[in-house]
Amino acid sequence: MPSPSLILTANPHFIDLAWAELARVQPSAQRVVVLADGVWAVTAVNFFTLAEQWRQQPPIFARHICPVHLALPIAGLAADVPLLAEVVGTDMAAWLDDELPFSVQTRLLADVPYKPFDVNTAVAHTIQQQSSAPLDVRQPAQILSIVVTAEAAYAGISLAAHNVSDWAGGMRRFARQPAQISRAEFKLLEALAVFQIDLPAGGVALDLGAAPGGWTRILRQKGQFVTAIDPAALHSSLSQDKNVRHLRLTAETYLQQPPDRFDVIVNDMRLDARYSAELMAAYAPYLHRHGCALMTLKLPEGDGPGGSRQAIIEQTRAILNPVYTIAGARQLFHNRSEITVYLKK
Ligand SMILES: C[S@@+](CC[C@H](N)C(=O)[O-])C[C@H]1O[C@@H](n2cnc3c(N)ncnc32)[C@H](O)[C@@H]1O
Repeated sequence: MPSPSLILTANPHFIDLAWAELARVQPSAQRVVVLADGVWAVTAVNFFTLAEQWRQQPPIFARHICPVHLALPIAGLAADVPLLAEVVGTDMAAWLDDELPFSVQTRLLADVPYKPFDVNTAVAHTIQQQSSAPLDVRQPAQILSIVVTAEAAYAGISLAAHNVSDWAGGMRRFARQPAQISRAEFKLLEALAVFQIDLPAGGVALDLGAAPGGWTRILRQKGQFVTAIDPAALHSSLSQDKNVRHLRLTAETYLQQPPDRFDVIVNDMRLDARYSAELMAAYAPYLHRHGCALMTLKLPEGDGPGGSRQAIIEQTRAILNPVYTIAGARQLFHNRSEITVYLKK
């Protein structure tokens, strides 16, 4: 195959939409080969140009991109590690900016007898012998991405800000906490990090569709006083918390009360995206002017009788736009068949 210029990663059920986003801004791009589910090698596109376009206007579905500067045949054996350290480490060291902290991020797309950590440390070791760029795996400004398949390794260097996500493949990980209530907690943590949202100290939050209470738990952890709306029960660990008010109502019923006013509104209700957006629009008067909101928009895994997924997104946009500024919309790593939308008043 022709050597790819970049590797695109998205949720496998939404890679076609990520591709459409790419083709919209880079019509000449061609998909060369599927490296794995949701991971496509792409050619005929300049990585830097695309990365700058997406840095300024981030895509919704493309979770990660990384450039390919070097393609190296490998055997899928333990001997790959010293080979990668020697060839990739030596070749790529010269590409690094000596002033900027770097990290090596390896993704293994094939069953090989080594771990990403083995490649990362071996390659970083070679680089450190040849470059004075400091190694910083937590907050790298430049990243050497290595993607390993059964036959080849693809390596390229880019600014972290150019990869859409500064996590390998956009796979943002959070440590599981002993008190965790639901996996959904990761979605909220990821949204707060990706959209760089600082919740106001002692803020008043509304959690629509709160049960079993993962988002409520995170909001409490961030110092919010929470009104949790859901006809279903919350986890017992929240019942002792005086700063959680659980109303066993639907969001529609709470609207009739009428609701209080809030600094933050979050909505993870399992509802049709357009209907959920209409409810969010109805709640807009109860969000303070400085407030912000986060919602998940549930999408089908494919285009179906309910309309294409792109059309559903456009329709929700049209519902939200008159009352909110859409400050961000992304399919996060922890989103399954949905995207997360960040709204401001
Ligand atoms: C995906 S779960 C929310 C998970 C929650 N964010 C967490 O972290 O634990 C969706 C919830 O939305 C609730 N829900 C669905 N329709 C609703 C409505 N009209 N009003 C209030 N809650 C609703 C369901 O009862 C369900 O508990």
